[in-house]
Amino acid sequence: MRTILVINSKGGSGKTTLTTNLASYYASKKVKTAIMDYDPQGSSLQWLRMRPGHVEKIHGANAVPPKTAPMRSVQTWVPSETEVLIIDAPAGAKGLLLQELVRKSQYIVIPVAPSPIDIHATADFIKELFLFGGARNSKAKIAVVANRVRSASLIYGSLERFLTALKLPFLTSISDSENYLHAAEKGLGVFEMDEATTVAERRELMPILKWLDGHVPNRFGSRVEDKVVSLESSRKLAAFRMIEDPTFSSTGRFKNYP
Ligand SMILES: Nc1ncnc2c1ncn2[C@@H]1O[C@H](COP(=O)(O)OP(=O)(O)O)[C@@H](O)[C@H]1O
Ligand SMILES: [Mg+2]
Repeated sequence: MRTILVINSKGGSGKTTLTTNLASYYASKKVKTAIMDYDPQGSSLQWLRMRPGHVEKIHGANAVPPKTAPMRSVQTWVPSETEVLIIDAPAGAKGLLLQELVRKSQYIVIPVAPSPIDIHATADFIKELFLFGGARNSKAKIAVVANRVRSASLIYGSLERFLTALKLPFLTSISDSENYLHAAEKGLGVFEMDEATTVAERRELMPILKWLDGHVPNRFGSRVEDKVVSLESSRKLAAFRMIEDPTFSSTGRFKNYP
């Protein structure tokens, strides 16, 4: 079973959108797919309940303890024949929960919205992931995707530099598109909607699917190694020092770094 964790500490970055679209892509290819929802809000499970009868089934598992979500009847159990499991993480996951999520996963996809605040929070989250989440010693492959991008010219300069220092790939930019909203309303993914009207969305999601299949594309064309385990710690520390730069959050760029 392949386990893909979709995570960012920030709410609204696109975790559920990515989870449901990746899951429905695999399901539409007849891959046995399950979603494990760790978010007390249960948006992925709600999406599953809205799925029409004619599309491929996706199993839903509830990973939220009953204390936090007393009304949820769905079990944590995942069928043994599951081939792809996608975990929808809650906002603000840290500490033991973060370690548990990382331990379960072979792939970690981090969606990030284009605002300076989101970019800063994401860089902090990646730091947390490495320093306390166990990503440093895990074999999980990690990549970042931009989400809700309104203009192709949007600069993620600071985040890009940070990711390059960490040798993490920045896979793709997902546009801010009504098709994702329509899909969410109907319990579908863009790969299950009319092909002609979802060409752009399908194209922008493809680099993630390719990366999950072992390809290593990089939006910025620079060479990225397909491993994050053996990062030199000096490089890592330099990157962490960069995001602690106080000029980072105000502009989304580093004034002190060329
Ligand atoms: N690329 C996108 N285009 C349009 N709307 C989006 C896009 N990504 C997310 N949204 C919308 O933004 C809101 C937050 O996204 P969501 O996936 O629920 O984030 P998270 O799970 O990280 O909190 C939702 O209403 C969702 O439908
Ligand atoms: Mg969510």
